[in-house]
Amino acid sequence: MAKIIAGVSSSHVPAIGAAIDNKQTEEPYWKRVFSGFEKSKEWMAQAKPDVVILIYNDHASAFSVEMVPTFALGCAAEFPPADEGWGPRPVPVVKGHPQLAAHIAQSVILDEFDITVVNKMEVDHGLTVPMNLLFGSPKEWPCPVIPVAVNVVLYPPPTGHRCFMLGRAIRKAVESYPEDLRVVVFGTGGMSHQISGPRAGLINSKFDKAFLDNLTKDPKKLTRIQHLEYMREAGAEGIEMVMWLVMRGALEDKVDEVYRFYTVPASNTAVGHIILEPHRRAAKKPAGKSKKPAGKMKRAAARAKVDRVRS
Ligand SMILES: [Fe+2]
Repeated sequence: MAKIIAGVSSSHVPAIGAAIDNKQTEEPYWKRVFSGFEKSKEWMAQAKPDVVILIYNDHASAFSVEMVPTFALGCAAEFPPADEGWGPRPVPVVKGHPQLAAHIAQSVILDEFDITVVNKMEVDHGLTVPMNLLFGSPKEWPCPVIPVAVNVVLYPPPTGHRCFMLGRAIRKAVESYPEDLRVVVFGTGGMSHQISGPRAGLINSKFDKAFLDNLTKDPKKLTRIQHLEYMREAGAEGIEMVMWLVMRGALEDKVDEVYRFYTVPASNTAVGHIILEPHRRAAKKPAGKSKKPAGKMKRAAARAKVDRVRS
């Protein structure tokens, strides 16, 4: 049976992709950003997922404003990089997993969670930048990827609660797939940023860090954030953070935060990143070996495990 072994969230700032493509990653400005993902790449190399389900938004690359699905599931065998105005990024073609994708489509739709099935689609920086940040720049991506595109560019985007519930439906679908696959779910976008208008350049680190805290410990609180609050607190493009809630919904209620990184800015955006794994119960010790209450021990273990990098 397939299972979700972790959730990863990361900003997908297009300038990060440009820095990789133009070999600027060692320049001081960019090194600050990329150094925060070194441990993540090590973690991913050990995790070795069989499939990635990557939640992102299309930036008018595959879908024009003529047709914008609220949720779109990539069921194709492959997804070429999109031309976003400077030619397609020099990254590998993304190989899909049509069998698992078709199973997810069937499961979530019969679960009354209607989703648009997409059998041909190019993928833009929203998908390819997080792939680079977690897998580096290999000749071929190491595993198949199922893209899930969420509309956050044309009003009205889905609510955070709806996104969270989509994650739940995806988890149910994955866990009913008969093949033994280890799946990692990515939520991408954000964090706070606004790219136009009088508040262009807005960054709200306090909001971002509280969002990261609650992503681990109280995601239901995040599902109650309304669109206007995202706009006011995280800028017009901060609404992308609802996509992180799809990832969180795909995990169990209790998770262990194994890594976090936050830095400001990259281009005009706050960069956030977190890795969550299903909560691991502490191994039972023989009776009489310790007088420490079990709850205290668990919390201490979790705190020791969290590896945070902040700047
Ligand atoms: Fe975006």
